[in-house]
Amino acid sequence: MSALPTQALTPFAAVIVAAGKGLRTGLPLPKQFARWRGEPVLRHSAETLAQAGAAPIVVAIPPGADELAAECLHGLPGVLLVTGGETRQQSVAAALECLAPNPPARVLIHDAARPILPMTVIERLLGALEKYPAAIPVLPVVDSLAVARDGAMAGSAAREELRRVQTPQAFRFQPILEAHRQWNPAREAGDDAQVAQAAGLDIALTEGDERLRKLTFSEDFVQARPLMRVGTGFDVHRLAEGEELWLAGVRIDHSHGLSGHSDADVAIHALVDALLGAIGEGDIGSHFPPSDPQWRGARSGQFLTHAAGLVRKAGYEISNCDLTIICEAPRIGPHREAMRRQLAELAGLDSGQISVKATTTERLGFTGRKEGIAAEAVVCLIRED
Ligand code: CTP
Ligand code: MG
Repeated sequence: MSALPTQALTPFAAVIVAAGKGLRTGLPLPKQFARWRGEPVLRHSAETLAQAGAAPIVVAIPPGADELAAECLHGLPGVLLVTGGETRQQSVAAALECLAPNPPARVLIHDAARPILPMTVIERLLGALEKYPAAIPVLPVVDSLAVARDGAMAGSAAREELRRVQTPQAFRFQPILEAHRQWNPAREAGDDAQVAQAAGLDIALTEGDERLRKLTFSEDFVQARPLMRVGTGFDVHRLAEGEELWLAGVRIDHSHGLSGHSDADVAIHALVDALLGAIGEGDIGSHFPPSDPQWRGARSGQFLTHAAGLVRKAGYEISNCDLTIICEAPRIGPHREAMRRQLAELAGLDSGQISVKATTTERLGFTGRKEGIAAEAVVCLIRED
């Protein structure tokens, strides 16, 4: 995975509160441990925070849930578990006390129940901490508002003045620790901004993100995603003397090879773009920039394995891949089965799920003149659960 710009903004610690009961979901398991889009809810934001460089990440969990939490978070670096409290505020306070002996400069406090955590939100929050001791992500209210009393409208409120508040919320560490120490733990707090404000901290409002929605009710766990997704990919590389020819993960003896980024395996590149396209994850260049020296001469197979992993992480299985290699020479037929096997192994599939076809362009155009090879791919993804 490519380095993320937020890593330049480290160090900061994170707290994830995951000690609630999730009663409103009606699920048999607290919602933070339930599977959602292929992974436990809690793991989604923990992975994002780890990737953004948060260290340590203190996770507040219900009493006795250590094993369950450790299973959800296995393999993530810098995670510490702490037992949460009766209220969300008490859970945050317990996590902050765990950081207090070795205090970080800054901390992001996040609800486990908000699995999708866009990097841009983290960047904006940490940016705002340069000037403010606290920063929270907010969204505008678009509907008009009514004050409800006994089932009837008792008044209204000016939506222009109001904002919907999300997490993560960002704080300089000492002030938020003090604010929680001053808070009366018998009192509920909706979030840490309320605790911070009671202690007199100035709080910057940064732009939130609709994707940060908190999973709250049973319907939030019903799959709203489409059953099927498709993606297409296309790539071209130039043929040159003195280069090795790699096509669909197979090395082919030929007078010329392909030149370009990595090993220039045009077939794998088209396939990777199709997979990334199907899950809306950009393209091969955004994951493995040609400008990055670590990918010079790299085997493209690792790009395919990575893209297939992202597909699974998004909660999809690859149903089938159809690849067309467009060239005058070499002949693809003799290598077809080896290519299918190799692609299947790299993507964690059965070779029956992969088709490799080839065509010439009747000696027309750059492929016809043997100046380069083109490839196009179509993939179909299906939902896993
Ligand atoms: N939370 C916590 N400790 C508590 C209560 C809540 O760590 N004593 C956490 C939840 O796990 C959740 C976040 O605070 O990640 C936001 O709370 P909420 O959405 O209300 O979750 P629950 O309290 O678990 O759900 P419910 O209110 O439906 O029981
Ligand atoms: Mg609650």
